[in-house]
Amino acid sequence: MKILMVCLGNICRSPLAEGILQDKADKAGLKWTVDSAGTAGYHIGETPHHLSQKVAKLNGIDISKQKGRKFRKEDILFYDKIYVMDNSNYNDVKHICGNNWQEEKVDLLLNELYPGEDRDVPDPWYGGEEGFHVVFQMIDRACDNIVSKYSLDA
Ligand code: 4NP
Repeated sequence: MKILMVCLGNICRSPLAEGILQDKADKAGLKWTVDSAGTAGYHIGETPHHLSQKVAKLNGIDISKQKGRKFRKEDILFYDKIYVMDNSNYNDVKHICGNNWQEEKVDLLLNELYPGEDRDVPDPWYGGEEGFHVVFQMIDRACDNIVSKYSLDA
């Protein structure tokens, strides 16, 4: 499986999602490619937000070596599955993909926890550390379901 996690800045949520899913896949012995990207280019080349790094580390995951990049329309061709953090990311990915768009490859991450509900992973950018812990736990549970679902046919 090749999976891409997408948010707005590729600085808070999707770096956590990349780190968490890669860690679970590795521990399950799966040779998955996991990456992340942002629909906006504000933070290209930057390491993840210090609170994403801190919360990941408190949970035993090192995301300090990640570098921000922007989502590109070719990503939808390379990856098997793209998970977006919120509905606005979904619309932005669709727009960037243009004629490459493949609806079946793209879903909201929290639909793996709450199927069909189209819930958002809230953006912790404007809040304090607690918001990053809340987001970590949501992503962690969704990624458990992804590993269970796709490891069956890996
Ligand atoms: P993210 O959060 O999409 O989870 O990485 C944000 C990061 C940066 C900005 C917005 C959201 N920003 O406006 O720079």
